[in-house]
Amino acid sequence: MYALAFGIGTKNARDEWLEVYFPAPLFHPEPALVDTVASVVDYQGGNVDIETDTTRLQTLSQIWSGNSHASLMTQLAKTVRPVVVTILETDGKPQTTPETYLKLHLLSHRFVLPNQQNLDGIFSLLPNVAWTDQGAVDLEEIDQRQLQARMAGTVLEVAAVDKFPKMTNYVVPPGVRIAHSARVRLGAYLGEGTTVMHEGFMNFNTAAMGPNMVEGRISQGVILGAGSDLGGSASTAGTLSGGGEIYITIGKNCLISANAGTGIPLGDNCTIEAGLYITPGVIVQIMDEHKNTVKSVKARELAGQDDMLFIRNSRNGAVECRTNRKAVTLNKTLHGHN
Ligand SMILES: CC(C)(COP(=O)(O)OP(=O)(O)OC[C@H]1O[C@@H](n2cnc3c(N)ncnc32)[C@H](O)[C@@H]1OP(=O)(O)O)[C@@H](O)C(=O)NCCC(=O)NCCS
Repeated sequence: MYALAFGIGTKNARDEWLEVYFPAPLFHPEPALVDTVASVVDYQGGNVDIETDTTRLQTLSQIWSGNSHASLMTQLAKTVRPVVVTILETDGKPQTTPETYLKLHLLSHRFVLPNQQNLDGIFSLLPNVAWTDQGAVDLEEIDQRQLQARMAGTVLEVAAVDKFPKMTNYVVPPGVRIAHSARVRLGAYLGEGTTVMHEGFMNFNTAAMGPNMVEGRISQGVILGAGSDLGGSASTAGTLSGGGEIYITIGKNCLISANAGTGIPLGDNCTIEAGLYITPGVIVQIMDEHKNTVKSVKARELAGQDDMLFIRNSRNGAVECRTNRKAVTLNKTLHGHN
């Protein structure tokens, strides 16, 4: 069994899911627990969403009386909102909105790393939603809701119109700082000790393993290794549009300096000079310790190697790769989380 979770969500007037919040998803749940749920909600196998009702939730609460699941069942039994149990027997291609939301939760709860689960076709399963201070609103209903708010003398605050919600309205992982919560989408994995500054951005299916300083943008599929620093306005090439097929990983203790970026994976202890973007086809001169060119290669041939320092030589404009002798260490005072 891949995952099981009870969620509370929002539907539109056509009875379609807009979003689902899963407070305590279970990854690879115990077979006995799955059997109990299966008998109460009549689960026959496969990957399914089963809407449940008060009676079934109360039954589960009684069966689990005294353990941690009972309290959640008791609370969910009292809501008038739609409640769903999503059961994923396998990590198959997502088929529904609740299933997609559960997989995004699994990333943000640190159960899985990016690119480890099947997220094929999720854009068509995530409705574009107005994220308001009254929750998720279907775009066909937004005009009426705005009018209702005005009639009541208030304003419906629309924070975003997007397919993905902000992560922190669903999951607040321990030991992180996020200066501007709208910059981190649900489905981001923030390891212990990660700081995302105001201009930092983490898409769904990304990871900062922690500790990290993220002042730049992490594209879908990219993993930033422990101790690495993504400088102000730095960026990482993604795969969604115009990018390559290769997912970028950045190793441990790397510094992607301000306004720099990479389109190739990097190993550990690598530094890219401020303002320099290493795309896969860039011609790089490999330098020896006496600053003589050993040979020229395309950057993609250096993918994944450790201890590289990339600079653009300000005398002749050539992109050079030297041995990195001063790998970054994160400033403990600046990057603390207490
Ligand atoms: C890449 C970077 C870290 C290199 O720093 P550095 O201290 O100059 O690196 P090194 O001392 O190892 O440089 C080796 C040599 O190359 C020279 N050099 C560095 N960059 C050069 C360039 N672009 N052109 C020509 N020579 C250069 C250095 O002056 C030094 O010369 P020396 O041996 O004669 O003293 C630095 O240029 C940089 O980009 N810092 C930005 C940090 C940043 O943005 N942090 C995030 C903040 S949000």
